[in-house]
Amino acid sequence: TQALLGPADLAGETVLVTAGPTREELDPVRYLSNYSSGKMGYAIAAAARNRGARVILVSGPTCLDAPCGVELHQVVSARQMREAVLAQAASASIIIKAAAVADYRPAQAAAQKIKKTGAEALTLTLEKNPDILAELGRIKEQRILVGFAAETADLLANARKKLTEKGLDMIVANDVSQPGAGFDVDTNIVRLLYPDGRVEELPQMSKDEVAHRLLDRVAGLRKA
Ligand code: CTP
Ligand code: CA
Repeated sequence: TQALLGPADLAGETVLVTAGPTREELDPVRYLSNYSSGKMGYAIAAAARNRGARVILVSGPTCLDAPCGVELHQVVSARQMREAVLAQAASASIIIKAAAVADYRPAQAAAQKIKKTGAEALTLTLEKNPDILAELGRIKEQRILVGFAAETADLLANARKKLTEKGLDMIVANDVSQPGAGFDVDTNIVRLLYPDGRVEELPQMSKDEVAHRLLDRVAGLRKA
């Protein structure tokens, strides 16, 4: 059956995958979040497991079932995701950050439900969340570190900047404004960027296929 599952080229590896959105609490009944479905990250987790890896999946809230045999750590906020990722990072040989982490959170989560007042406008103050991937880049050691870049403009330039600034081995650049790519669809259209300047353009394919292509490259980097 291994032939059906594909190559067991990740046997002996521990792959840490993050997936889904985060939710940032505003009050007891409301939160800020984004449209991430978690599909890309869950596809990577399942593909890595099928290729023989031990897989740790740190996931924000999604409607997906965890792939069988994967160690699932469920989190809600960006700060919880950071805690879970940093706790697991030391045991990982490969980290793939597919999660759409909220960049900002409400500066204060109100203890009680925020009430409508007479005013026609409400101003929220947000503060920055920690950049988990950048932090991983600073404690990288021998690990392979893969990020995603969700962009709606200047895809390659923005993705290259993230690749360099976060100290990654590869970034998956994702134009989320294209139909058939990005949030909450079953397909994706990505480019893989490397520190040496190479760009590999992949056609539209299922998120499962994208996951396997990405893991082909990761397995190659581990061997190199
Ligand atoms: N990321 C992270 N922690 C954050 C924000 C992002 O770990 N607080 C990770 C994402 O999981 C992704 C990568 O960084 O792998 C890039 O995320 P993206 O939102 O595309 O870029 P940002 O660096 O957040 O910049 P911006 O949103 O301004 O484009
Ligand atoms: Ca962001």
